[in-house]
Amino acid sequence: MLRYLRWAPSMWRSEINTAVLEMLAVQPGERVLDVGAGMGAGSVLAARGGATVVAVEPTPFMRRVLSGRRLLQRDRSRIEVVDGSAEEIPVADDSIDAVWAVNTMHHWVDVQRGVGEIGRVIRPGGRVLLVDEDFHDPAHPDHDRFGGEGSADDHHGFTMVDADAMGTLLSAAGFGDVVAAKRDVGGRPAIVVTATGA
Ligand SMILES: C[S@@+](CC[C@H](N)C(=O)[O-])C[C@H]1O[C@@H](n2cnc3c(N)ncnc32)[C@H](O)[C@@H]1O
Repeated sequence: MLRYLRWAPSMWRSEINTAVLEMLAVQPGERVLDVGAGMGAGSVLAARGGATVVAVEPTPFMRRVLSGRRLLQRDRSRIEVVDGSAEEIPVADDSIDAVWAVNTMHHWVDVQRGVGEIGRVIRPGGRVLLVDEDFHDPAHPDHDRFGGEGSADDHHGFTMVDADAMGTLLSAAGFGDVVAAKRDVGGRPAIVVTATGA
């Protein structure tokens, strides 16, 4: 829990989640999925925009914070906080219009299974956006704090996700329009994977 408290301000509201929601162009009435929702930086934004959000989060502490935060939202009826993970998403097949994961890929214990689960729940043509910030890049504004060995905080052992490997996994799993690359998101260097459901 303590390791997450250090991150609390950026998990409550973050430029990267704002940028991700803009990239996904989530529409009112869509059913969307936030994988590893944390304190709900992305979920709350999507609900405000009129989407119905399934916020999947495996850590009980995070679910408690997000459930409390949900109660403060005018749009709370459109946010569902559920116990799950990338590897086990408690959502019906083909039921999601858009899915995102921000700074969670490096936590996934079984990446292939996570990709398979996202493929199962996303509807054909649905949008997928997976982003992990690259704190190791000296251009990242938080590089000195989270950038790895010798930095003030080693980002709780952040292991950089391999964009090529993720792209290969999604293509093999049958996703369409797969692009996996390093690029800026909200002014932050990141590993970014985009795809569409098959
Ligand atoms: C750095 S936080 C990011 C939270 C949120 N996505 C955000 O952008 O603020 C990482 C989150 O991933 C969650 N997580 C850990 N293991 C996971 C898994 N296997 N699948 C999905 N999320 C996971 C953690 O509980 C935590 O809430």
